[in-house]
Amino acid sequence: MKNKVLPTNVERTMAENELICSRTDMKGIITYCNEVFVRMGGYDRDELMGVQHNIVRHPDMPRAVFKLLWDTLHSGQEITAYVKNMSKDGGFYWVLANVTLDRDDNGVVTGCYSVRRKPHPSAVQDVAALYRIMLDAERNAGARDAIEVSTKILLDVVTKQGFKTYDEFVFSIINKYR
Ligand SMILES: Cc1cc2nc3c(=O)[nH]c(=O)nc-3n(C[C@H](O)[C@H](O)[C@H](O)COP(=O)(O)O)c2cc1C
Repeated sequence: MKNKVLPTNVERTMAENELICSRTDMKGIITYCNEVFVRMGGYDRDELMGVQHNIVRHPDMPRAVFKLLWDTLHSGQEITAYVKNMSKDGGFYWVLANVTLDRDDNGVVTGCYSVRRKPHPSAVQDVAALYRIMLDAERNAGARDAIEVSTKILLDVVTKQGFKTYDEFVFSIINKYR
């Protein structure tokens, strides 16, 4: 299901002691979500279950971040990332998300699980500035080259700051504002 909602500048915030949780299959179809997810998204639970997780995708998010998310999960790793999401009414909410793989007793991957908490406002400012540059580059590059160009910007920032991986970079931001 594609999201036809128009974004507004109204921010929704979650409490420090809340977690937004959801589970998906390996295609990103929502199979579980908690009450905080339902409230922050502004959708009825019925509208969320069984639909692609991009229902809360915000147009300000660079495509390269989701490419990295899926590549990382498909390689068997977990990922931690800052994400701007969009509610049903067009409002937005930033999260710091950790996405892991669900495995059965035999270690076979059965899906993905995401736990999100409220990010520090200063971390959001840093990340939003980087995402803005990536998004502009994606728009200028056109659909075919967008992800490649924007991934390069992201990885250049990671490398220039002395980190080997995106996760190291994210944790440096988390620790900076602790
Ligand atoms: C467990 C899990 C949680 C996800 N959570 C989000 C999320 O909160 N917001 C989001 O935009 N995409 C999330 N995604 C990624 C979406 O499935 C999708 O790749 C992304 O929204 C980009 O959609 P698009 O390719 O249609 O633009 C999640 C994926 C998984 C596996």
